[in-house]
Amino acid sequence: MMTATKTPTIVPSLLAGDLTRLGEQLDAVKAAGCGWVSVDVMDGHFVPNLSFGPDFVRLAKARGFFVDTHLMVTNPLDVAPWFAEAGSDVVTCHLEAVGDAKAALKSIRALGAKSGLAVKPKTPVDGLVAALELCDLALVMTVEPGFGGQKFMADMMPKIERLRREIDSRRLDCWIQVDGGVGASTIETAARAGADSLVAGSAVFGAKDCAAAFRELEAKARAAFGSKKK
Ligand code: DX5
Repeated sequence: MMTATKTPTIVPSLLAGDLTRLGEQLDAVKAAGCGWVSVDVMDGHFVPNLSFGPDFVRLAKARGFFVDTHLMVTNPLDVAPWFAEAGSDVVTCHLEAVGDAKAALKSIRALGAKSGLAVKPKTPVDGLVAALELCDLALVMTVEPGFGGQKFMADMMPKIERLRREIDSRRLDCWIQVDGGVGASTIETAARAGADSLVAGSAVFGAKDCAAAFRELEAKARAAFGSKKK
């Protein structure tokens, strides 16, 4: 799934899934062409919420998905091995939770997973840019992490534009992921700024027809990404 030529990819977030029928929902989006899902891990310390363990990665991997695990925890390097072992293709830690971002990214790669680094809205993107050579994925949060269904923060777009310039000028093979409040009315803004991995929870799994919602978001993202500012 990781290729140098990126096509904007909609990444449904399991956080918004209906746990009583998550398998059904995953099968529906897979049938609509979805190949990548995101598992949000929350520890009740780094964010005021608790969510999933490694078994949810296994559930998605059993259905053939590419899975990124977004660690919203205070001790990402302690738990990263559990999620890598469960099959995570990408493990993303938060810049705010690691002392040495480059060392953290190297240790994630040493687990056999691709490396991701995320920044919360109040964190400048500079720390991400400085570690970009070791990132397979750079995640710009467009909500305060912890909960789905929040309002998209459009003032985060300059961070995405800065990452897009850096990745393109340095010819890096790195996804720019955006997460939080991504939906039909906001996805074009994110894609036009240069995001090519777009996490959508409520907009997909909260929709009556999650397959149709997935297809609509994908079409909008690809059209907008193609027209992004050069
Ligand atoms: C926040 C979570 C959410 C979730 C997607 O910590 O990371 O962003 O994945 O949520 P919505 O429903 O906003 O797409």
